[in-house]
Parts: sequence; C-alpha cells; structure tokens
Amino acid sequence: MSRQVVHLDVDQGVAIIAIDNPPVNALGHAVRDGLVEALTRAEADPAVKVIVLACRGRTFSAGADITEFGTPPRDPGLHEVIERFDECSKPTIAALFGTTLGGGLELAMGCHYRVATESARMGLPEVKLGLLPGAGGTQRLPRLIGPEKAVTAIVSGKMIGAKAALADGLIDAVVAEPVQGAVDFAHTIGTTSPVRVRDRDEKLAAAKADPAAFERAAADAVKRLRGIEAPAACVESVRNAFTMDFEAGLAAERAMFMRLVTGDQSRAQRHVFFAEREAQKIPGMASGLKPAAIGQAAVIGAGTMGGGIAMNFANAGVPVTLVETGEAALQRGLDRVRETYDISVRRGALPAGATEARMALVSGTTDWARLAEADMVIEAAFEEMDLKKEIFARLDGVAKSGAVLATNTSTLDIDAIAAATARPADVLGMHFFSPANVMKLLEIVRGRDTSHQAIATAIAVGKAMGKVPVVVGNCDGFVGNRMLARRTTECERLLLEGALPQQVDAVVLKFGFPMGPFAMGDLAGLDVGWRIRKHRGVTAPISDVLCEQGRFGQKTGRGYYLYESGSRTPTPDPEVEALIIETSARLGVTRRAIGDQEILERMTYPMINEAARILEEGIAIRPSDIDVVWVYGYGWPVWRGGPCFHADLVGLPEIVARLEHYAGASGDEGVRPAALLRQLAEQGKGFADIGKDAKAAAA
Ligand code: 3HC
Repeated sequence: MSRQVVHLDVDQGVAIIAIDNPPVNALGHAVRDGLVEALTRAEADPAVKVIVLACRGRTFSAGADITEFGTPPRDPGLHEVIERFDECSKPTIAALFGTTLGGGLELAMGCHYRVATESARMGLPEVKLGLLPGAGGTQRLPRLIGPEKAVTAIVSGKMIGAKAALADGLIDAVVAEPVQGAVDFAHTIGTTSPVRVRDRDEKLAAAKADPAAFERAAADAVKRLRGIEAPAACVESVRNAFTMDFEAGLAAERAMFMRLVTGDQSRAQRHVFFAEREAQKIPGMASGLKPAAIGQAAVIGAGTMGGGIAMNFANAGVPVTLVETGEAALQRGLDRVRETYDISVRRGALPAGATEARMALVSGTTDWARLAEADMVIEAAFEEMDLKKEIFARLDGVAKSGAVLATNTSTLDIDAIAAATARPADVLGMHFFSPANVMKLLEIVRGRDTSHQAIATAIAVGKAMGKVPVVVGNCDGFVGNRMLARRTTECERLLLEGALPQQVDAVVLKFGFPMGPFAMGDLAGLDVGWRIRKHRGVTAPISDVLCEQGRFGQKTGRGYYLYESGSRTPTPDPEVEALIIETSARLGVTRRAIGDQEILERMTYPMINEAARILEEGIAIRPSDIDVVWVYGYGWPVWRGGPCFHADLVGLPEIVARLEHYAGASGDEGVRPAALLRQLAEQGKGFADIGKDAKAAAA
C-alpha cells in the first residue's frame, strides 16, 4: 500500500491538512489527489470552521514535482487544487516555514491567508527552470504585492524573507511556530468572510492607470537575460494581471507554461537542476558517510586565489588562517580580502558591517606551526610541481592527523603531490575558479588514494561555501580546462585559416556564452598561456606574436582587442587583423571566408569529443557532471544544458560526421571522433543513455 502523503486532523473547529511528502513536500499527483480529498472532507464537516494548510518535515512545499514535467498530465492538476482552496467556503490559512517555492507558494496564495515563521523564505523560482509560475503565481502575486515588485521577484526567481513578505503584503502575520501560529491567527479573523486573492484589485490600480513604473521594473529585470525565453514570458504574464481579468490572465499563463515546459530551454534547465544534485552522489561511497567537521581552516598562499578561497571559508562561517612566507605578502593578501569585502558592501551585495564580521574570521600568519590547528588546509601557491611537493612534505610534518590536505592546482598531478606526504588518502584537489569568491564551480580532484572521507568532506565544505562541487579524476586540466584546451586550439586555427577574433567571439556570444574566447583571453591575460606554452615547448603562432609585442590583454590595454584608456570594452584592432593576415601568409595558409556555422561547430564539437574521452577514461563519473562543470565554471548557457546535453540535441551522428571532416582538414587526430562518441552514435544513443547507467550504478 502506498504511503499516505496528506493527513487531515480536526481539533476544536480547526481542520489541519498536512502534506507529508519528504524531502521537500513536492506537489506530485498523490499529494494533489490527497489535498482535494482532505479539503472536500473538511469543507463538508460541520464541526470545521477554519482550514489550515500545513506541511510536515523540514519545509513547506518546494512546488510542483519537477520529475513529473514531460510526462502526461494527471488530474487533478495543481491549478485545480488551488482553485478548490480559493473557492473554499471556509477560511483557509497556509502555515509557511522553511522554503515555500513555486507551486508551493502558488498554493499558499490560493489560500485566503498566509502566516510564516520568521526564518521562512518564499519565492517563485520557476524562471530558473526555464518556466514561468504556471499555477496562478503571475496573477496572484501582483494582486498581493503589486505588479512592479512581482515582476522583479518572478523574473529573478529570488526568495524573500518573512519580514519583507509581511511588509509587502504577501503574508498576513509572522508567527513563532507555523501550525500553532496559523491556529492562533484563525481566532483573530472572526467571522468576516475572507477576500480571495483573485478579487483583490487594489494593488493593480496604479499600474492600470499608468503602467510606466511597471514597464521600467520589467525592463530592468530582464536587462541581462539574453537569449532566454522564460523571463519575457514572466513579464508578459505579470502584465496580463492588470490588463486582463483574472480568468483570462490565468488562461494565458497556463498556455505560456505549457509552451515553455515542452521546449528545449526548460528541458535543459531542468537537466542542470538535477545534474547539480546528481553530481554530489559518488558511486561506491557509503550513504551514511559523514563529512568531517571543519572548525578551523587554513589557506597557504595569500595571493588573489588564496585570498578568494579564504573568503569562501569566512562566508561559510569557518575561521580561516592565511599562511604566507613573508609579512609584506601576507599583509597585501589580507588587505585585498578586506578591500573585496568593502567593495561588496559599497555595491549593496553585503550588508553594512559585513566586512568587520567576515574579517573577524580571517587571520594571517607566517608561522607554519599554526597549520597544526586546521582541519582542512588548501594550498594556493604558484603552479610549480617542485614547490607544491615541498609544501606538502612540510605540511605533512605539521598538519593534524585526519586533516584534509587540498591543492588548488588547475593542472598538476594530484598523485605526485600526494606522494610528497605519508598520507595520500587525505590529499585531493580543490580547484576553485577565478575569482574564487564568486565563481560557483568547485572541481574536487580525487587522486589514486584519496579516501571517500576526504571527498565527502570537500563536497560538504564546497556546499557550505555556496559552490557547486563536482568530483573529477586526476589528469592534465581535469575536466574543464582539458576540454577548454580543445577550444583554444580551434580558436588559433580559425584565426590562421581566415576568421577574426570579433567574428568568433560574436558567434560564441550569440550561442549564449557571456563572453567570447578572445575577449576572455584578454581578460585572463595572454601571457599566462604564453608562459605555459614556452615551458612545454609548444607554439600558437598568432597568440605568440601578440605576446611578443607585449599585447597581454586588458592589463596592457591591448591583446586580441584594443582597450582604450582603461576601458574594459573590447574594440577590434586593425593592427591585430594585419598581424593575423601576416602570420597566415608567413605560414603559407591561404585564408578563406569561414561561416558562422563552421565556427560554432569548431567552438563546441571538439570539446564535446574531449568530453567523450573524459568519460571513456572515467575522469568524469557521468556526462551530466561535465555539463555542470561547463555551466558553473565556464559560462556555458544554462538554457543549453551543457555540452553533453547539447550534443544529444544536435545528434551524435551529425557531430561524429563533422569531427571526421575537421580531423581530416586539420590533420589533428585529437579532433577525430572518440570511440565512445562513435559507438553511441552507431547505437542511436546519446550521452543521456550513459547518464542513466551511471545513475543506476550510484543507486
Ligand atoms: N520536485 C521534485 N524534486 C525536488 C523538487 C521539486 N520541486 N525540489 C527538490 N527536489 C529534490 C531534489 O532533486 C533532491 O533530490 P535527491 O535527494 O534525489 O537529489 C531532493 O529533493 C532534495 O533537494 P536539495 O538537495 O536541493 O535540498 P536542499 O535542502 O539543498 O534545497 C530546495 C531544497 C531549496 C527546496 C531546493 O531543492 C529547490 O530549490 N528546489 C526546487 C524548487 C523549485 O524550483 N520549485 C518550483 C518548481 S516548478 C513549479 O512549481 C511549477 C508551478 O509553477 C506550476
């Protein structure tokens, strides 16, 4: 017999309908069914005067059950359930706590009243899944808080706290305990018949008279959301709230929801939602394995990266010590951390006083003995193997037993670093992306001997820092940079063969990346790659020529582009064009016009091919982990789901054929389709099929 997911209890005239569907009380079919049945019984029971809608477990409902999207709809739909609460002849009160999201909030807005605990947060995050709120959210929220605030909340998908919700009119009271608070609230409403949210028009009046303020708020909300369909649909639907009557607005919302939910963008965004969570699951790791508690952390190296990592600890509430070799470098590092916090406070990203609060957790020392206090040490020194080995050997001598010893290397061999210690099980890579305090991706690199305990701890620390951790294997460049190297090679080739930086960047931008590869190179500094190439004895003719001329990118005002008087806006430079043409001629390459489609293919397919090799070698556990790496670390547009998801959409046979063509044209065997890619294509399968197998193995 299936578990009961909705309970009904009646006590002293109050019916409590409680959803009990762990972990997040999603509103799947059984819950919707149970809600209608419980409400019908409560409404028919003459002893019931008031109905409280509650949830058991850790949170009020997080919304519709996302796993049901893309499957045939089953009655009753969520909108029908909400309509039943809305039309109920007895007052209905939603008792909110935890996170009330999406359909959960829409259901709460279908009730006549809402109370919430002080720590409760609520929001309509459907836009993050490529959707708009599809169960009345775009029609009821504007009626409660006004269309301007509603459009901002719905397009951003951000949550608001109980206090702000009360001030805005989204809830009616802040209470100490949800159910008791709702019962107490019930006694205050007396016998006055409740006003349904749909009938509350007062907050729409201003926008009806003059929509200018709404249009400004809407334009502001969508300003940076290039290429995505959902935000525009959110705006249109909130606008309907004051230009149409409620029923028409609801019908239009529903039609837009159905269009979006069946589209590729929402599919991609839902894929990333689940991929991010799946990435935390490590096959073979005992489910009860507890991460070690990190009471004190240390970071070796107070450079930009080390400082950013220290900030992550402080942001997570973990005291952290920055360790440097000299006082001057240490002070510079600490000053940089303080300044970064100050900038965030000035921009309003952090509240006033945050700098002092966070800096209270950050200390500095030149005394290595202090490393003995740390439960986790992250080394962020220069990228030099000998230096890292020396640091880890020294660290081994002072660090406490069981401490996690991590390196922030972006390329070096974790096993070689671990071998400098007598405790390789405790050593792993924690590869943060620059700027380390901002970028969400954290590649956790496991070495040959790294223990599950160390990995579990690194994942937990990453999550506490607000990062998206992905566990990867040990190889040159790990997952992200290894794939990026393929794109970088193609970039150089495209320039030599006939393209210009601005053409390539425009194609990549149009695809949805926030920046093209050449503008990105200029931002990061072209000298970094130049130095690595020299060290490895390899060349990239055009990039080398630029560097030889001191064109290192933004920091020298010139790189692939020109940056006039400190500007960060790349301007195409005729000098660069001349240099490129000259280099092609010098190397005997006849330049040709290269179409945008070819550029796009070469900017994506060789990377997808490398992803297949990474999977063949077991460097990534599953294709969706690679998607998470690219979405959170390299700006792959979330609405395109990541390289593996995108490859499945394009179709692997097409990608294999194009790679064959490009491998033939360039003579680069690295571009030749990987065996796995070929095999999947021949079997009519996609990356998603291996994802399913990996999921079964993890379970
Ligand atoms: N449907 C189905 N499963 C869900 C879910 C949902 N709405 N929300 C979370 N889950 C699952 C997760 O996949 C995860 O499953 P797993 O353990 O098998 O990996 C489990 O619940 C726990 O989730 P988290 O690991 O994310 O737990 P946290 O405590 O870190 O976060 C949360 C909780 C803030 C609620 C977060 O899960 C979240 O943001 N959920 C999505 C909320 C959302 O987007 N709601 C809108 C849904 S769309 C909708 O309602 C449409 C409507 O307008 C018609």
